[in-house]
Amino acid sequence: MSLATKVSEHFVTEFAADPAFIVRAPGRVNLIGEHTDYNDGFVFPLAIDHAAFIALRPRDDGRVRAISLDMGDRREFALDDLRPAAEVEWIDYLIGVAWVLQERGYPLRGWEGVVGGDVPIGSGLSSSAALELAVARAFYCVSDFDWEAKAMALACQKAENDWLGVNCGIMDQMISAAGLQDRALLIDCRSLETESAPLPPGAAVAILDTGTRRGLVDSAYNERREQCEAAARHFVLPALRDIDSATYAKRAHELDALIRKRARHVIHENERTLRARDAMNAGDAVALGKLMIESHISLRDDFEVSSPALDAIVDCAKADESCYGARMTGAGFGGCAVALVEADGAKDFVERVSKCYLEATGNQPSLYVTRASAGAETVVSTPPPGPLPEASGSRRH
Ligand code: GLA
Repeated sequence: MSLATKVSEHFVTEFAADPAFIVRAPGRVNLIGEHTDYNDGFVFPLAIDHAAFIALRPRDDGRVRAISLDMGDRREFALDDLRPAAEVEWIDYLIGVAWVLQERGYPLRGWEGVVGGDVPIGSGLSSSAALELAVARAFYCVSDFDWEAKAMALACQKAENDWLGVNCGIMDQMISAAGLQDRALLIDCRSLETESAPLPPGAAVAILDTGTRRGLVDSAYNERREQCEAAARHFVLPALRDIDSATYAKRAHELDALIRKRARHVIHENERTLRARDAMNAGDAVALGKLMIESHISLRDDFEVSSPALDAIVDCAKADESCYGARMTGAGFGGCAVALVEADGAKDFVERVSKCYLEATGNQPSLYVTRASAGAETVVSTPPPGPLPEASGSRRH
């Protein structure tokens, strides 16, 4: 059963009516451009075919009532009485998005609905961004404002930073908001301009979940951010985005050894990401794969955010005859790697790499071939019977 059907059927059981809307927002996998977003640099993710879904209908009492299928829980809150929680739970994602949208002047109406998703939580595929964008889309469906992908991504990033307390960059929310079917999206994380490219012909993207989840990712992530900022400050630049590898090579000796390595990763990763765009536009899977391999080495040795499990799965993938290239993806320390593989050989690749990784580490991985999907969208919209209420007359969904 599809997830849209699942949330819809639960809605019918719960509310004895069809949902007025079903929305979805996807998770993501990043092909290349890692730890560059908070340096105002470039990233090249695609929205995946795993997503968060909400089946809902509007309420007129300014309240949100939600049931989480995954958590087996139901909660509600009032839009005029939003309170931060001491410990973040799933409902805080809904509250955080409501908070930031109202802060930014969006007039919100309440809703009730059923939330479900199949982005594995904590695997580095952005289940949080998917939920945030699905919630923003739910509010959009029942309220009176225009959907603008960039503005929604920025709002959801703000909810993540300031309400949920996670210091992420803009990549995850931006790709969940603006992803395109069958295309990867080059995002300039300074201007938020995007440019899309199809995968090279005959190539497919595989997600390689190591099955490992690491604690302390947040503190290591914040530490990396600070190190990057220190390097930019040293060069008296707004961000590491503003220095190229030739200038860096001349001045690298000015930095202390650790900061030098961190900066080297970011500066070269930005350039690799732009070269990846050229490789994609030329349909050159071999060149793209090589860049992914270089990216992993840089993340492992210079940025030091890989892990033995990630290195093992990347090594298994790289050694496979169907693989163009592989690397860790997302924040690192555990979670997933991504591989570019021959579409025809993808099934065998998945089997061989699973076996290789299990033998090398004793961990059971989970591998799947993904497809680039669309960003946040309304998949079902049923106009209520009779004339539309005043506030919703001009809306487009
Ligand atoms: C996490 C963050 C992103 C990005 C990546 C690393 O996924 O949420 O903003 O910084 O790590 O590229």
